[in-house]
Amino acid sequence: MTTNRTFTMIKPDAVANGHAGKILDHIIQAGYKVVALKYTHLSAEKAGEFYAVHSERPFYKDLVEFMISGPIYAAILEKDNAVEDFRKVIGATNPSEAEAGTIRNLFAKSIDANAIHGSDSDENAAIEGNFFFAENERF
Ligand code: GTP
Ligand code: MG
Repeated sequence: MTTNRTFTMIKPDAVANGHAGKILDHIIQAGYKVVALKYTHLSAEKAGEFYAVHSERPFYKDLVEFMISGPIYAAILEKDNAVEDFRKVIGATNPSEAEAGTIRNLFAKSIDANAIHGSDSDENAAIEGNFFFAENERF
């Protein structure tokens, strides 16, 4: 188990707004090592699969449409207690509820366009990392 790793995406809103570099720096300054990094544009099929856990939720269609609206950065990150600490670094799902200094507080505008994704468990961190990266793309 890679319990010291989490997975993130810098979402299309943050990339389009020119915040990707600042967000990546924020993550590194928070103590994370970038193990893998990819600039990519999700297909509808891939985005639907990634967020399949939300497929019955009313916001699912909007979520998939948003996630394919532009390119993203995907990354695997490493640090002690990576998953739990990263949720604190990104802040609440709704940026209006995100604590001051968190990435969503600093860079997100709405619950739909909330700048960044962070895995919610060690198990999902591994699944999500494997979704984007082969073993020989991790350093
Ligand atoms: P991710 O890191 O993107 O997974 O966000 P999260 O873990 O903070 O939230 P969650 O996994 O519950 O939801 C996934 C995404 O769906 C969120 O990032 C939001 O963009 C969107 N979302 C979640 N709940 C709502 C909601 O009640 N309304 C709307 N419009 N969007 C929501
Ligand atoms: Mg989530």
